[in-house]
Amino acid sequence: MSHDEGAESAPLLGVDRVVKRFGGFAALDGASFHLMPGEVLGPNGSGKTTCLNVISGIYPPNAGQIRLDGKPISGMPSHKLVRLGINRTFQVPQPFLALTVRENVEIATTYGGRDCEADIDATLAALELDAYRFRTAADLNSAQQKMLDLARALATAPRLLLVDELAAGLHRQSCSAWHASCGSWPPPELLCWWSST
Ligand SMILES: Nc1ncnc2c1ncn2[C@@H]1O[C@H](COP(=O)(O)OP(=O)(O)OP(=O)(O)O)[C@@H](O)[C@H]1O
Ligand SMILES: [Mg+2]
Repeated sequence: MSHDEGAESAPLLGVDRVVKRFGGFAALDGASFHLMPGEVLGPNGSGKTTCLNVISGIYPPNAGQIRLDGKPISGMPSHKLVRLGINRTFQVPQPFLALTVRENVEIATTYGGRDCEADIDATLAALELDAYRFRTAADLNSAQQKMLDLARALATAPRLLLVDELAAGLHRQSCSAWHASCGSWPPPELLCWWSST
């Protein structure tokens, strides 16, 4: 982990002895770490997606605690966590294939409690999806679907954005570049970048 010089002292996210079992197999066996605002978590060992799924409310942990701003959030469902400012991208995006690219992002703004038309177009332009706005998500190639997944996550104005293997060949610098170019959204306090490369 690296830490920003100007970051505040209280961690935004705390993961404390979290266990996630699939039957008899423990994918997470007492995972503990803190993430400070401005911090980036780099390459990690196995269990990245499971950990991200537990933090973002896809799976409840079997044991342990997760805290946002010191308040327990373990087991809270995704639709509540997104309103608290936690959202994520998926290793394998699953957009609404029959809907247009823009409609996919519109749905995300509603999901996150946001409703700002201008920001949608600015974000799609920043992620080089503006030419596809009125095409269906099924028309996108897999890299573009990952950018759409990112646009959908940004559209919920996350404080904590968890990025799971966004795209082969993209690295932290690229991530910062597109993040900086998405100026119409409030930037997340914390970008957590999960990658095996
Ligand atoms: N739903 C599940 N049921 C059973 N086992 C699972 C499930 N999800 C993950 N696992 C197992 O948990 C372990 C960690 O998987 P996970 O996908 O979290 O790792 P990862 O670090 O994200 O891997 P990758 O770098 O391939 O994306 C693996 O052994 C995997 O097979
Ligand atoms: Mg993974």
